[in-house]
Amino acid sequence: MTGIYLEMFSTHLTFFRWFPVRHSIRCCFRVFTGLVMVVLVSLILAAFFHPMIIKRPHILVQTFDNAFFKNKVLPKLLFSDNFPGRTPLAKTEQVHIGFVKVHKAASSTMQNIFLRFGYLRNLTFILPPEKNAFSWPNIISLNESITTYNIVPPPPGRHFDIVCHHVLYGREAFRKFLPNDTVVIGSVRKPFSLFQSMLRYMQPSYIMGILGDRKVSQFLRNTFLYEPDIIAHSVTNNRMAFEYGCPADIIIRRDIYAFKDYLRVLDQEFAVVLLAERFDESLVLMKRYFHWTLKDILYAKLNVDMSKRDTEDTDTFPFTVDPDDEPLYRNHSILDYYLYDFFKNRLERQIDAEGPEFAKETEQFKKVRKEVEDFCHTIKKYSDSVTIKQSPWNEEFDVTIFDCELMHKYEISFTTMIRERQYNMKSTWSYK
Ligand SMILES: *[C@@H]1O[C@H](CO)[C@@H](O)[C@H](O)[C@H]1NC(C)=O
Ligand SMILES: *[C@@H]1O[C@H](CO)[C@@H](O)[C@H](O)[C@H]1NC(C)=O
Ligand SMILES: *[C@@H]1O[C@H](CO)[C@@H](O)[C@H](O)[C@H]1NC(C)=O
Ligand SMILES: *[C@@H]1O[C@H](CO)[C@@H](O)[C@H](O)[C@H]1NC(C)=O
Repeated sequence: MTGIYLEMFSTHLTFFRWFPVRHSIRCCFRVFTGLVMVVLVSLILAAFFHPMIIKRPHILVQTFDNAFFKNKVLPKLLFSDNFPGRTPLAKTEQVHIGFVKVHKAASSTMQNIFLRFGYLRNLTFILPPEKNAFSWPNIISLNESITTYNIVPPPPGRHFDIVCHHVLYGREAFRKFLPNDTVVIGSVRKPFSLFQSMLRYMQPSYIMGILGDRKVSQFLRNTFLYEPDIIAHSVTNNRMAFEYGCPADIIIRRDIYAFKDYLRVLDQEFAVVLLAERFDESLVLMKRYFHWTLKDILYAKLNVDMSKRDTEDTDTFPFTVDPDDEPLYRNHSILDYYLYDFFKNRLERQIDAEGPEFAKETEQFKKVRKEVEDFCHTIKKYSDSVTIKQSPWNEEFDVTIFDCELMHKYEISFTTMIRERQYNMKSTWSYK
């Protein structure tokens, strides 16, 4: 249990916590880190060029093989002017997926769905090198989109099918690395609720370091004093918009007109943007759009522990968030509010367009999901599998213990499992 908790909680804290609070301290800190980096780099270079000093470990697949991507083979085959663009949704099962995993917006649950889907079909995932700049084997990048240096090339003779690990959205990047019939999908959550969840999960140092009990109010009243200068280093400065690939200068200028143009672009490029608050309906919509089955969209509530932390664990949690401060946050993260409202309205229109049967299908899905969850929690006592009866929205199917295991598998273990199979290697990841 502790292991799981650690995995969820400590994932990518490092990147954001690293940045200290005050400008003066930050300045000295930078000079200091600069020096340390220079020394480190020299040592590494020395070690690299003198095998006599340190014997280099044998590196298997996890190298930054830029040469591979310079090769003409990939891009020509995969380029298309349609993609990304939500117009031509396939008439058959959609297998090429670009999922933008937005922090704290129901995205771990979504990601498990894509991991399971791809794993069961032996599809190829875009993965970061196991040892990477962000120190976690499941993070492609927290500050840029997919690049040749933050991912591992596909195995020989294969192309990528799915991306569903943390990385910023970028039209050109997604086009470059994914097939031309890829559908792009993301999720959004109410910004103030996302903000609170971010605080609890990331505990950003630039807010933790504020003195007094009313850190959050103090922060929201003077965000310009505390926010990191670099947008990528902030988890509270329109982070949702940033993860959707909004250029940093639009965020810095709070340029609402430019952002509205950007939303029109996203509107063209994203097939579905799910709403954390209407999760089951969002999944049913995705199932219909992608020609998936009910079994594909089943999920277990993976973030139960996290939500407990979100609501109950207030003793150990240093932030009190005053609901009356929401207008201040809204002013600060105004682009996130525009983004959320935009996709909320769009999802509602998409659902309305599906007609009256949609609500019934959602009910059926909720019922089955509950049944499967109950089965997964009692398997040892009763049987190896459960059969879900046919309905107007699904064929009859079985859910096995193995399905339960996959549904309950956390991100890092699942990623490790996929990495080992995809590259036929032994993972060296371990908790430190
Ligand atoms: C998409 O890529 C396939 C090959 O993978 C190619 O046959 C097809 O013509 C491309 N479609 C478009 C619209 O570019
Ligand atoms: C993103 O962060 C990584 C690791 O800290 C760094 O190597 C890279 O240069 C950064 N990229 C940008 C665009 O800032
Ligand atoms: C609203 O945000 C803008 C830009 O971030 C800032 O200049 C202004 O002071 C904020 N207004 C309030 C009332 O916080
Ligand atoms: C899955 O893909 C790997 C290569 O990534 C291949 O070696 C293996 O045979 C495939 N297995 C199945 C069942 O298709």
